[in-house]
Amino acid sequence: MSTNGTSQTYEKLTKRIREYQTLGACGSLLSWDEHTIMPQKGAEFRSEQLSLIAGMVHERSTAPEIGDLLGELQNSDLATRPEAPEAVNIREVSREFQKGRKLSKEFVEELTLVTSQGQHAWKKAREKKDFSLFLPYLEKVIALKIKQAETYGYEQDRYDALIDDYEPGATFESVGKVFAGFREELTPFLKAIQDSGKKPKREIIERHFPVGAQETFATGAAKAIGFDFKAGRLDVTTHPFCSGIGPGDTRITTRYNPNHFPDAFFGALHEAGHGIYEQGLDTSYFGLPMGQAVSLGIHESQSRLWENLVGRSKAFWKRFYPDAQRYFPQALSAVALDDFYWAVNDVRPSFIRVEADEVTYNLHIILRFEMERALINEEISAADIPAVWNEKFTSFFGITPPDDSLGCMQDVHWSAGLMGYFPTYALGNLYAAQFFAKALEDLPNMYENFAKGEFGELKKWLNENIHAHGQRYPAEKLVELVTGKPLSHAPEMKYLNEKYGPLYGI
Ligand code: CO
Repeated sequence: MSTNGTSQTYEKLTKRIREYQTLGACGSLLSWDEHTIMPQKGAEFRSEQLSLIAGMVHERSTAPEIGDLLGELQNSDLATRPEAPEAVNIREVSREFQKGRKLSKEFVEELTLVTSQGQHAWKKAREKKDFSLFLPYLEKVIALKIKQAETYGYEQDRYDALIDDYEPGATFESVGKVFAGFREELTPFLKAIQDSGKKPKREIIERHFPVGAQETFATGAAKAIGFDFKAGRLDVTTHPFCSGIGPGDTRITTRYNPNHFPDAFFGALHEAGHGIYEQGLDTSYFGLPMGQAVSLGIHESQSRLWENLVGRSKAFWKRFYPDAQRYFPQALSAVALDDFYWAVNDVRPSFIRVEADEVTYNLHIILRFEMERALINEEISAADIPAVWNEKFTSFFGITPPDDSLGCMQDVHWSAGLMGYFPTYALGNLYAAQFFAKALEDLPNMYENFAKGEFGELKKWLNENIHAHGQRYPAEKLVELVTGKPLSHAPEMKYLNEKYGPLYGI
């Protein structure tokens, strides 16, 4: 084909992609609305609206014409330089297209229905602390996920087919190897913290923090670290999320608890981290892989980095603590910075993942990773979950959940068919620590600048080294290119040691 013909074909392809991605963005906006300000009675019609759009997007994104255009482009000049934007777009769209085409419309509909029922049953069962109400639904979800993995196909492990939806290229073996080394060091580290007998004054952050002041304070901090409020909003929801609607419009959310400071503040920083990634993507590639996030793990690395490595650092609070004392005089005026800093970095085993600290959080994930892989490989069945969960939990943390709502039924993921998703949370922590260590090498005055309220150089570093690439490199390669080393648990352990060693005298 002539070069001219090729570029026309490419234009045709990108036009079609942008069209269905724009349609998808309309769905994202409806979904944001559903979770923030939609009146309760609108729920049923909203489901209809969302499922109509989802169906239209699926139809358009798997249309045979897309396959024809991709077929013409895959062997063209445009695909020869693998890192050129056009080649990246052709490669990644093909990958998604091939996967999407494997699933029949009937399968997609069945999965949507079963997971929707599953989530409903899960909610009820969790409230009643009765796993048996959830079991028949969960069995159906797992059977469908096994079917999905078999339909996708895999080389080694059935679970690989599912992780790939969230962390392209990752496998049970590659992730398992990193997690195994990590856990080996994490477990004795946690034990040393517990054995130290030292504990911060946790009640400091459980005092009364008026919601209005929390909102102003969190908004100011999100703005200070670089979330652009002219291209985004911060609103209230029950389960915080970030949604990159499209160019110039990124929505983040948080929730306020007047008697627990960390929820809203660190939630807002976390989502602002996701938002800064979305806002850092190249808008000229909207809808195309070059303008999209690499993987969920890399996305989570951006949120964790701002939430924890920056937001829970001493340097950060040197700048923000005097403000906090002004906003919350009743709670904090008589509290020293060091005591507050330790209270927001309290490490102790607890039952609930989303409330876990930086150290124990990773163990919560490794437990889920091992269990869901065993479920997908039919080494354990859904009925075994409560017993296996409690046994593993006790061996990981030394405490046993008193009921399944504080145990195996705490997360929505499995009911929603999100299997293979959990590992991306801990991968996010590992990527974050590895990126941050490299940023600190390149920007040696970073902490001093945090203490002055200057975060721009770190944001710029992330923009240039990570965000600007879109999906040019797979996660694994991106980490290696940016940091010079493959993904490892070593930077995370080094960070945890340096931070928590002095706090707990270990
Ligand atoms: Co997140």
